Amino acid sequence: MTSATAPGKIILFGEHAVVYGQPALAVPVFQVYARATVEEGEEKGIWIEAPQIGLAATLEALGHDHPLAMAVELVFRSLGQSPQGQKLRLRVDSTIPVASGLGSGAAVSVALIRALSAHLGQPLPDEQVNALAYEIEKIHHGTPSGIDNTVVTYGRAVYFVRGQAPQPFSIRGHFTLIIGDTGIPAPTRQAVADVRRLWQADPKRYNALFDAIGEIVQEARQALEAGDGARLGELMNANHALLQELTVSSAELDALVEAARGAGAWGAKLSGGGRGGNMIALAAPQRAQEVAQALRLKGASSVILSALGGNHESGVEGTGAL
Ligand code: PMV
Repeated sequence: MTSATAPGKIILFGEHAVVYGQPALAVPVFQVYARATVEEGEEKGIWIEAPQIGLAATLEALGHDHPLAMAVELVFRSLGQSPQGQKLRLRVDSTIPVASGLGSGAAVSVALIRALSAHLGQPLPDEQVNALAYEIEKIHHGTPSGIDNTVVTYGRAVYFVRGQAPQPFSIRGHFTLIIGDTGIPAPTRQAVADVRRLWQADPKRYNALFDAIGEIVQEARQALEAGDGARLGELMNANHALLQELTVSSAELDALVEAARGAGAWGAKLSGGGRGGNMIALAAPQRAQEVAQALRLKGASSVILSALGGNHESGVEGTGAL
């Protein structure tokens, strides 16, 4: 049996503008993760189970454009092997809420690509895992920037510009990131498509908004590297205001953002595609519980506390090919 894990991720700054070539900053979230397990089956065929989404089917029954089937087929193709005649049981489990901005789709893809390629005796290097996961992201997102698969694959904080090699960056100081879920699933694909329509109708206005977000990202990187929590909070607030102008916030997100600020966070913003899903707040560690409590009282369906800058590993475990 071979298994592999991949963490969730959260965007700190720069979502949406990153689709248009601006930089973004994102970090892995190790409190939530996807795990894929591959073992030899008794019968011919590839059986795939994902209990959290009620899925139990053969590879053929899923069809080529299902993200899990696509992951399996891409791995076989990359390894120059065929899924025909295989006897395999694949299982995917995930603690990452779906469609909430925590990168669940990318984490599931990365875990499955790693576990399957390792089980077949040819574990793919991160660069290739990332490239395959990006292909699958296109099903989830339409026109993804590639930030989700990149952070999830490498499991570390990245400064990301579409089409360029991701740059790892360091975070100084002790910050707690408080991640509050509105509990409203919001497919990123829809929000990205809506922003694209707005941009097409008025490129001048929206390019200026994207540029302003890009500048915030540059400053935020410096503030993270300098360990300046108060400045980071201001930048989060400014980024949130620009995301509101992009029409991707919602009443529920705004309420959680306000609650976090009111409870003493340095700043807060929505994170990811928006319209629902998660928001984030940044606070000094000794303030974090108060902020978390304020979010719960305002109706957050779940709250995750994550130390920024932690250094964890994810990867393949187990015995490899049997
Ligand atoms: O909703 P999430 O966290 O998966 O992220 C989407 C980020 C966007 O910038 C809105 C889209 C993208 O592909 O980068």
